[in-house]
Amino acid sequence: MTVSLVGAGPGDPGLVTVRGLELVRGCDVLVYDRLVADELVEEAPADALRVAREPLSQETINELLVAYGRAGLEVVRLKGGDPFVFGRGGEEALALAEAGVPFEVVPGVSSLAAVPAAAGIPLTHRGLSSRVTVLAGHDATLDYRRLAETPGTLVVFMGLGRLDEIARGLVSNGKDPQTPAAVIASGTLPGQQIVTAPLAHVAEAAAGLESPALVVVGEVVSLQPVLRSAAAIPAIDRASGTLAASSPAR
Ligand SMILES: C[S@@+](CC[C@H](N)C(=O)[O-])C[C@H]1O[C@@H](n2cnc3c(N)ncnc32)[C@H](O)[C@@H]1O
Repeated sequence: MTVSLVGAGPGDPGLVTVRGLELVRGCDVLVYDRLVADELVEEAPADALRVAREPLSQETINELLVAYGRAGLEVVRLKGGDPFVFGRGGEEALALAEAGVPFEVVPGVSSLAAVPAAAGIPLTHRGLSSRVTVLAGHDATLDYRRLAETPGTLVVFMGLGRLDEIARGLVSNGKDPQTPAAVIASGTLPGQQIVTAPLAHVAEAAAGLESPALVVVGEVVSLQPVLRSAAAIPAIDRASGTLAASSPAR
């Protein structure tokens, strides 16, 4: 195998897979995303070539993967979360396939479920939610009417910058303004912050949080206070104005 598209997990370096870590430890070239933990980058051999994804364009990254792969080097493309969940892993895999370069995809722990889980929010729960809808917050074509009608849990990636617009879009199309909502910033990391509030107030409550952040909307968020305290995860509950005892995520 020459090129491996490896999921690094949602942030905490302990959440990489055994296979992923094995490949990082044996690579000649490591091309890594901004959100990948420094600890994982350090796991590459001392003499491995390290290439930061930013500020390179996606086209340049594709070309580099193809060129290093053709040269027969062991290349690891280390990506945040799972390579195929909002990670452009599909584009890189297509570039490699079209160039005839053999590659492997090593799935990662996506922030999709891991970040809510670490914050005390199960995406599904018997009696509360049996459906999960996932979307990119920067998608300009969001159909708020359909989203407002869709039962279950809504998970929004890359939605922090448009949270006000998204929440208003849902509420103005019939979603109950009291629907529990949460924003989790830097999930699974020591700086993790969790804000919960009714949907109508969540954007205001989340003001000041920074990316990366995941938004969860749905009744499952109502379990968070109980599951959070059981897991001793730090949280700011802006709806009630209480600041929970702060402790590192790990
Ligand atoms: C380009 S997407 C990459 C997603 C990644 N491939 C995955 O499977 O988790 C980046 C977005 O994922 C979410 N995200 C990733 N890591 C996160 C974290 N540790 N805490 C909160 N949200 C995170 C945020 O919405 C962020 O803007």
